[in-house]
Amino acid sequence: MDQEWTTTTFNSEERERELREFKRKTGIQVKLLPSPESTREQLALWREVLRTGASGPDVYTVDVIWPSILNENFLDLKPYFANEASGAFPSITAAYTVDNKLVAVPYDANLGMLYYRTDLLGQYGYRAPPQTWDELESMAARIQAGERAKGKKDFWGFVWQGAATEALTCNALEWQASEGGGQIIEQDQTISVNNPQAIQAWQRAAGWVGSISPPSVVGYKEWDALNVWVAGNAAFMRNWTLGYVDSQAPRSLVRNKFDIGPLPGGKARRVTTLGGNGLAISRFSAHPREALALVRYFTSRDVQVRRSKVFLELPTRPELYEQHEVLEPNPHFAALGQALRTDLVSRPSTVTGKKYEDVAKVYIQAIHSVLTGEKSAPEAASSLEKQLVLITGFRKAPPPGTNRAAPNRSPEPTR
Ligand code: GLC
Repeated sequence: MDQEWTTTTFNSEERERELREFKRKTGIQVKLLPSPESTREQLALWREVLRTGASGPDVYTVDVIWPSILNENFLDLKPYFANEASGAFPSITAAYTVDNKLVAVPYDANLGMLYYRTDLLGQYGYRAPPQTWDELESMAARIQAGERAKGKKDFWGFVWQGAATEALTCNALEWQASEGGGQIIEQDQTISVNNPQAIQAWQRAAGWVGSISPPSVVGYKEWDALNVWVAGNAAFMRNWTLGYVDSQAPRSLVRNKFDIGPLPGGKARRVTTLGGNGLAISRFSAHPREALALVRYFTSRDVQVRRSKVFLELPTRPELYEQHEVLEPNPHFAALGQALRTDLVSRPSTVTGKKYEDVAKVYIQAIHSVLTGEKSAPEAASSLEKQLVLITGFRKAPPPGTNRAAPNRSPEPTR
């Protein structure tokens, strides 16, 4: 069972090729099963098929946020994949490790990126993509007005994922963390979400809806944003690295007219949400030997190198971001490796363990209610905080980096 974007012709042809190669090398036949579009629906399906035991699938991709949630269903892969685990970015391996058990072997990484139209930036006199959210707003507004004036009525400045799905968790976390608004729940088990920086970041995004972004962006998942983008109807898009292939596909109207780079920064820093998958084996698998061989093949260095070339898929081994064979066909990887080292923000899935699903659900609802104007951002933040206290039992605290002392304390004496 694979969560990945297997729908495009190019993608599925490449997959077929890999499976043929695997069969040729091992004699093992693999059947790739279809899956629903969004993460939360996929998780529900994974649970259902895992319940079928030995008659169910053998190998599963595991979203980077699922290891604690699905842990009991999978084998400990540590004894078989010690090298793969230690050779991957430590933050990635940590995400797939629960109580010292390697629930899944790091398979690919996925990062939120800014896609931008190089042709339009040039036409409107911009030399570089936006470095900050402020710049993005003004550039998007100007390009949108200009393109509309030329008669492109459906043109928008910025498209992203505003539907009430896990992708919204990733977008909103990027907005707030870049402004110093924390990671919702911090590693030290404190709930930091109700803070002025996060509130402002959500408010700002709500202001995009219907101005630089279409009103329907509150219903957009990854593919919806990508469809607007490849039709040439947006100046900027937030999407995963995996959107690159479709943007460069022969039928894409933005082919050779765009580039990707880091998301704009806020007052605190630049961030990108860590996404991606590991590969896990069902503990009920009737074919554990074959399953191990498949996981070994898919997580191998060779497959990661090839996928970096054909899909711009991000290898999980830091070592590969310095290799000529990866960098030469695709210079983007230098910046991508850097982002993986310095800009990552993780969803609070490790610290909340099995409760992450409920945590994400109430976070998504809160953000969505701000985007649709149903609630004000301060209202949504304060009721979200209460819900998170109930779900996790953790205490509240301001996000790290902000003043954690009592707000009313008297100023320090000066000399
Ligand atoms: C991508 C990411 C995954 C994330 C999902 C949200 O598939 O790889 O980690 O949960 O998007 O839609």
